[in-house]
Amino acid sequence: MPMQPWFTDAKLGIFLHYGIYAVDGVAESWSFYDGQLSREEYLRQLNGFTASRYDPRAWAELFARAGARYAVLTARHHDGVALWDTEQGDLNVAKHTPAGRDLLAGYADALRERGLGVGLYYSHSDWNHPDYASVVHPRPTKEDVTTHPLVAPEGGVEDPAAWERFVAYRDAQVGELVERYRPDLLWFDGEWERSEEQWRMRELSEKILAAAPDTVLNARMLSYGDYATPEQGVPLLAPDGPWELCLTVNDSWGFQHRDHNQKSVRLLVRYFTETIGMGGNLLLAVGPREDGTIPAEQVERLEGLGDWIGRHSEAVYGTVAGLPAGHHYGPSTLAADGRTLYLVCFDVPRESVGVRGLRTPVKRVSVLGTGAELPHRTVGGLEEVPGVLWIDAPRAEDVDEQATVLAVELEGELDLYRGVGRD
Ligand code: GLC
Repeated sequence: MPMQPWFTDAKLGIFLHYGIYAVDGVAESWSFYDGQLSREEYLRQLNGFTASRYDPRAWAELFARAGARYAVLTARHHDGVALWDTEQGDLNVAKHTPAGRDLLAGYADALRERGLGVGLYYSHSDWNHPDYASVVHPRPTKEDVTTHPLVAPEGGVEDPAAWERFVAYRDAQVGELVERYRPDLLWFDGEWERSEEQWRMRELSEKILAAAPDTVLNARMLSYGDYATPEQGVPLLAPDGPWELCLTVNDSWGFQHRDHNQKSVRLLVRYFTETIGMGGNLLLAVGPREDGTIPAEQVERLEGLGDWIGRHSEAVYGTVAGLPAGHHYGPSTLAADGRTLYLVCFDVPRESVGVRGLRTPVKRVSVLGTGAELPHRTVGGLEEVPGVLWIDAPRAEDVDEQATVLAVELEGELDLYRGVGRD
């Protein structure tokens, strides 16, 4: 199935790990897997999860201000606690927390009203389901997948009937998500604990697409995903096909009150432009408190990124990956028609900004946002090897606080020299 064009055009999404782990501010699911808390202590957080100030419309407004075009909310993480009143299993916030209601419907409606794509995160694995630790991955890539008591059966003794029940439970939950909330994107996770065959990935993807053929699926559907999901670091080479980097604003996916290591707006602009410059989307993660509010430090950062995007939207939306590394020292994007290059300069340019290997003649260079035109010239070059395009550095008043973008209008479609020079 071809990738939905909205996805590759979206550039920015917001990732929300919202769940009972915000009550004590511990790591989502992992805190009891790793033994930092007992399962009982972890589940005690159910009693403190109120969603008392949950306002998905305010979320949607904020995400739109940030320049995002979609969001992804944890419908159910590895801890098995569903954010909706599922008819499957027993663990959900409607039944077992003071929140006492479905949290997904309001989210999906609010995003749609604001024109944002609706994404739901769902973990295949469920460390709290009685039937989960019933089979063993035949080709594990991590050791504890075959030894951890929450994942593998004791002594490796499998119970195939229990596994069948688990798969039926997962399929029915995913079915509910598709039927009730019609997500544009299903963002799976937890796939590493079983094989593709054990997960019945083909059957699951067929069921989802039969009910909602336009649903985008991430790579954690293994062979049945539509796009790659690098995590927490910009890849050095762009993955093949569409992709999305998921990245936390601080160091945690969910709300952790001890984590104040928030990335600056400048740094977020870097990650964002490096990602879109290589043709990816950025899925930026914030962690709401148990009451549903997003911490002010994270709101400020989303708004700061949104302000930068607002001043430079021409270089963001409707663009594709820019120059490969080496042509310009920084990321770049290219207008979809191939006729304008957008060079991102993180540091204040001194004297000149150079572009190497540009075969297409340049019509005009200006600073995006201020419109200041910049003198430029091509120096050197021999036969088929183009010279270097030197653009005069912008004046101080045209330099952006986070990152300056130079728009290089070309006489035709971008044509690059990629060779080693004359013998
Ligand atoms: C990892 C973590 C998980 C988090 C996810 C986001 O898979 O296990 O906690 O939800 O990354 O990509």
